[in-house]
Amino acid sequence: MTARLIALLLAPLVLAACSGRTPLDAHAADAPRAAAPAAKAPATTSFTPPAESTIPAGPYGDMVRLGREIFLHTRKAAPAYVGNGLNCVNCHLDAGRLADSAPLWGAYGMYPQYRKKNHHVNSYGERLQGCFMYSMNGKAPPLDDPVIVALETYSYWMAQGAPLGTKLEGAGYPSVPRPAKAPDYARGQSVFGRDCALCHGAQGQGQKVAGTYVFPPLWGPDSFNWGAGMHELDKAAAFIKANMPLSRGGMLSDQDAWDVAMFMDAHERPQDPRYHGDLAATRKAYHDTPMSLYGTRVNGRLLGARPAQ
Ligand code: HEC
Ligand code: HEC
Repeated sequence: MTARLIALLLAPLVLAACSGRTPLDAHAADAPRAAAPAAKAPATTSFTPPAESTIPAGPYGDMVRLGREIFLHTRKAAPAYVGNGLNCVNCHLDAGRLADSAPLWGAYGMYPQYRKKNHHVNSYGERLQGCFMYSMNGKAPPLDDPVIVALETYSYWMAQGAPLGTKLEGAGYPSVPRPAKAPDYARGQSVFGRDCALCHGAQGQGQKVAGTYVFPPLWGPDSFNWGAGMHELDKAAAFIKANMPLSRGGMLSDQDAWDVAMFMDAHERPQDPRYHGDLAATRKAYHDTPMSLYGTRVNGRLLGARPAQ
């Protein structure tokens, strides 16, 4: 066996090990692929989603198109389940296709998955429900609701041909190394003024044209709530560094990305829906991490105490 072939055979095992599975499990799962390496493309984790023009005609294609429509215009297409001014595409750019923007093709094949957020194995549909409750500050559609089925179908279509259970290149938001200096509100404020306010507004309130946001709000009553992933500093820094300012992702230094994430996440937004009257208890139960400012005091303001509504 050549060294190259051995490397090809071992690659999936190493990748699986990184994703937390034991090499033994991974070996069983990957056995058919390893047995016929010549017939397959070399083991790789890069992936290109299919072109939108290839969405087929007929009922299946109609469901894919409905999912895409809901993803782009969530407020309009699924109003019963949305409680803010955002659409899915605001945080998953290019209709959920863009690498490093938590693309749907990078997510679909990674579920079912255990999530610390709710301490059990989540189906993909349940993961989508979470986006509605927190990022969209709304309500979870039932799992068999056409809204969930359409979003699942759109994701399934986009992930066609991608390997299951393998973290693909460009999946998720790439984490940004901790900067030398602890994230700082005042420095973040100046990054915001320099690189963000132009589009998102001086008060982070976004900008509307004819009643619809063209630049989404970063905090306040129409933004994501205190339970959303984006309120955690590491996730916000990761999204921002890779994707903002819009179309100029990668421009900010790591320090700037963390500082501006801290500034953004130190503002009031809608309450965490799991809150039942006790801020400290809610922090302890759901936000007991230095990545969350919820229930902490920043610049004299106790965050989460006067949620935006
Ligand atoms: C405010 C920004 C924001 C909005 C709006 C948003 N998301 Fe997300 N989404 C995130 C963040 C941040 C994560 C990663 C969270 C984490 O790592 O726990 C995420 C994760 C996901 C994932 C899992 C990704 C993966 O790789 O495992 C899916 C699927 C998803 N979102 C779909 C949606 C859908 C569908 C909507 C609309 C109903 C939506 N999101 C709205 C920010 C957002
Ligand atoms: C050129 C305009 C522009 C600039 C500058 C810009 N953004 Fe954005 N931003 C957008 C648009 C547009 C979206 C929604 C993208 C979409 O729907 O395709 C967005 C989305 C976002 C989101 C996710 C949605 C939400 O409202 O929470 C965050 C967070 C964000 N931007 C933060 C920032 C930060 C921080 C900066 C400065 C470093 C910045 N943006 C600079 C245009 C801009």
